[in-house]
Amino acid sequence: MDHSRWYCCAQYGGGSLILVQTSFFLGCNDYFLYQYTPLSIKSERNYRMHYLFYILHLLGMSVVIISASYLLWKNDAAGELRKKIALTLVSASHLQLLTGFILFFLMLSDVNHMKIGIKMLLAIELSVFATILKKKISSGQTPNKFILPTILLTGVTITVIAFLL
Ligand code: HEM
Repeated sequence: MDHSRWYCCAQYGGGSLILVQTSFFLGCNDYFLYQYTPLSIKSERNYRMHYLFYILHLLGMSVVIISASYLLWKNDAAGELRKKIALTLVSASHLQLLTGFILFFLMLSDVNHMKIGIKMLLAIELSVFATILKKKISSGQTPNKFILPTILLTGVTITVIAFLL
């Protein structure tokens, strides 16, 4: 099976999703946007800004989980593709840190600080492990067998904490 075709489809799929969301974000009026702002980021100020970073944050979450699952599931994926996906994973984990911190500072008084503190620590751990994994894969070494399950488990745990706490 040609894996790079799937990779390409995923990239175009993600790209069009961003396009649709961005035109929604730019095109609709304030009242309409406020109606559809998710409860977790609803506040009196700056909701247009919150919405943009929230979309990027959710996008990063899906990329982290999908790329980690793919690497775990397809152990035998061809070398170049594996390297690309590991790079995607590291970039998405950095995106999560960046958009997460921005969201946090935008909504300082509206969020649960304990929840954000736990998420922050786990996200930093995920980012460090993703970087180690990427370095090992790009230098042709075999990464520790526990590293990928740990990354995936951390990503899922953060997502569960984000929605439940
Ligand atoms: C891999 C890392 C991360 C994942 C998978 C993740 C996932 C999520 C998800 C799914 C939501 C939406 C929750 C909802 O709508 O109820 C969310 C919201 C949010 N995240 Fe993250 N996140 C990550 C890292 C971070 C980091 C590092 C920070 C801050 C330093 C952060 C701060 C926030 C804030 C402020 C919100 C919006 C308010 C809230 O739900 O409390 N996130 N995150």
